[in-house]
Amino acid sequence: MSVLVTGGAGYIGSHTVVELLNTGNDVIVVDNFSNSNPESLFRISEITGKDFKVYNLSILDREGLEKIFLDNNIQAVIHFAGLKAVGESVEQPLKYYINNISGTLILCEVMQKYEVKKLVFSSSATVYGLPKALPISEDFPLNATNPYGRSKLIVEEILEDLFNSDKEWSISILRYFNPIGAHESGKIGEDPIGVPNNLLPFITKVAAGELKELKVFGGDYPTKDGTGVRDYIHVVDLAMGHIKALEKILFTKGVHIYNLGTGSGYSVLQIIASFEKTCGKTIPYTIGERRPGDVSACYANPLKAKSELNWSTMRGIEEMCADSWRWQLNSKKDYKKIKTIFAEMENPYLLKSKRDFLL
Ligand code: NAD
Ligand code: UFG
Repeated sequence: MSVLVTGGAGYIGSHTVVELLNTGNDVIVVDNFSNSNPESLFRISEITGKDFKVYNLSILDREGLEKIFLDNNIQAVIHFAGLKAVGESVEQPLKYYINNISGTLILCEVMQKYEVKKLVFSSSATVYGLPKALPISEDFPLNATNPYGRSKLIVEEILEDLFNSDKEWSISILRYFNPIGAHESGKIGEDPIGVPNNLLPFITKVAAGELKELKVFGGDYPTKDGTGVRDYIHVVDLAMGHIKALEKILFTKGVHIYNLGTGSGYSVLQIIASFEKTCGKTIPYTIGERRPGDVSACYANPLKAKSELNWSTMRGIEEMCADSWRWQLNSKKDYKKIKTIFAEMENPYLLKSKRDFLL
């Protein structure tokens, strides 16, 4: 199948492109590299030994997007492109609403025009807000607490409306819990710009000596050790969930919503301990105030995805920490240089070898 992947150079997108290529699909990536680097795409090519087409374009560019649909026989879209920093979304809500909501509207309009009605959408466990109970099932009440979360919730509702208006659509909405880890090769992984907001990227930078110490946000939650509990999921397991969701929408119309999580919660202190064991170093930390907006615990009931998609996670917390650490140790060579050169290349670029590119 020929699959358009928006945001395919990003953290979850790049791991999903690997699995799409490994399972015999043709991939076309569209990304504006606002939060990623084309280097990840070359590394996908190295990992899989496969070529694919890349468009350096924003999904807000309707004309450019239409050209992609005209020039390629696209059968389905996996839509990762979006901005994801909660704090930034509070400071710049319009930027988030325009990119995440308008971007999706333009994408769906173009899909409708070119009769491509199979879509997998990246949503988030953040749409549950403060959950009414644990573990969290898909039918729980929804309640976003910040502009980022609201952008996901609004898009979910838009997609429901779209299907109600045209029953030919097949849409899978995937609510991710906390993706961490990296590809086992150490070639691709999460590459946040600046000081990371999320726990694992912060811990890896402390372990590598790039940051001094971790601040644990709150030690007085009603959890096993007082620190926040989350459902950490290996990014490769998450990527596999997209392959299963894609298979599902090939044969079933409708809007299908799935939690993608492991079903187990780990506290911040448990994650620190597991990471220390993996890297053989001590992670210095202090326990500070709670972070505004954080819930005490959040983990999935993943049974719907298991029964309907035949998907469940395979990788445990040790593997997640080990792969995150390997990525931290191997990752960063060539990144900046490639980004500058890539901006000047023809569009689309057929991703073959980095050597051609650098000549
Ligand atoms: P990421 O920032 O690494 O990847 C997103 C990609 O989209 C980046 O490559 C970015 O350059 C691209 N992009 C952004 N706006 C674009 C636009 N207008 N046009 C084209 N490309 C654009 O983020 P990620 O962690 O891989 O997340 C992927 C998706 O999953 C996002 O929609 C995010 O909101 C969602 N999600 C992520 C998490 C998480 O913890 N990582 C959790 C839940 C949901
Ligand atoms: N934490 C710290 N110190 C830090 C960073 C995080 O103690 O420096 C704690 C948090 O308080 C929380 C846990 O580590 O208890 C995980 O925090 P993250 O920031 O890594 O993840 P969140 O659960 O807050 O949010 C993430 C994404 C959201 C997404 C959500 C659910 O950032 O976008 O998972 O998928 F919506």
